[in-house]
Amino acid sequence: MSADGKISDWGRSPARFGSAGDQAHLEAQVALADAVIFGAGTLRAYGTTMSVRDPRLRSARVQRGQSPQPIQIVCSASGDLDTSVRFFSQPITRWLLTGEVGAKRWQQTEYFEQVWITSLAAEGQVDWLKIWEKLAAQGWGQIAVLGGGQLTAGLFEAGLVDELWLTVCPLVLGGRAAPTPVDGVGFLAGDAPRLKLLSVEQQDDELFLHYAVGTGIDVVPLSAE
Ligand SMILES: NC(=O)c1ccc[n+]([C@@H]2O[C@H](COP(=O)([O-])OP(=O)(O)OC[C@H]3O[C@@H](n4cnc5c(N)ncnc54)[C@H](OP(=O)(O)O)[C@@H]3O)[C@@H](O)[C@H]2O)c1
Repeated sequence: MSADGKISDWGRSPARFGSAGDQAHLEAQVALADAVIFGAGTLRAYGTTMSVRDPRLRSARVQRGQSPQPIQIVCSASGDLDTSVRFFSQPITRWLLTGEVGAKRWQQTEYFEQVWITSLAAEGQVDWLKIWEKLAAQGWGQIAVLGGGQLTAGLFEAGLVDELWLTVCPLVLGGRAAPTPVDGVGFLAGDAPRLKLLSVEQQDDELFLHYAVGTGIDVVPLSAE
């Protein structure tokens, strides 16, 4: 995010303002996860997802008993996705999380290895607690959430986020329309999820922050060990 807490500019363009070091940091986190989940808005902005490109990270995954790439799960209530974007030719396993209407277009196709159909609330929102139970049943321990602000807000509201990684980048984007790491309705201060700072690292003009989320704070940080 920018120094003023925006994850994109007001045009909601893909956030390419992080350094090569930030990209490597993100790739290393993705490489630890069993699955990666992100919103359709993020896919529409980037047209791609962060895969594990470094062969050393891929072989470390295999040594840990993981598949070479995490499963990449797109969450889209509408199912309205453009198949001409590069995401659909990246060498990864793609799953779709959607409702009955959204699934119609994808069920008889090979774009997604799995299409998970779930009931949607009146506002078109998935029930994250139900979905997380289903994900846990896969035997997965670590799920990386790559944004954007709407998807992340739903997970914070459901109390499902254990850890937060933020890179503060040296620019100011401003603007009411620019998304932030957690959008949605927001929390009143008394109900806001609390954070404990686990580590902070400076690389040139960027700061890498790692927080545990929640008051109990018994998070075991992700580690390649
Ligand atoms: N700086 C960064 O690291 C970073 C990372 C990620 C994204 N971004 C930026 O963030 C922006 C995208 O964020 P965003 O908040 O607009 O979009 P988003 O959260 O990525 O995606 C929103 C869409 O995902 C689906 N969705 C999300 N939560 C859902 C739920 N609970 N139930 C059902 N469907 C759900 C819906 O898809 P449908 O519309 O298909 O129904 C919704 O419209 C872009 O500008 C991107 O550049 C920045």
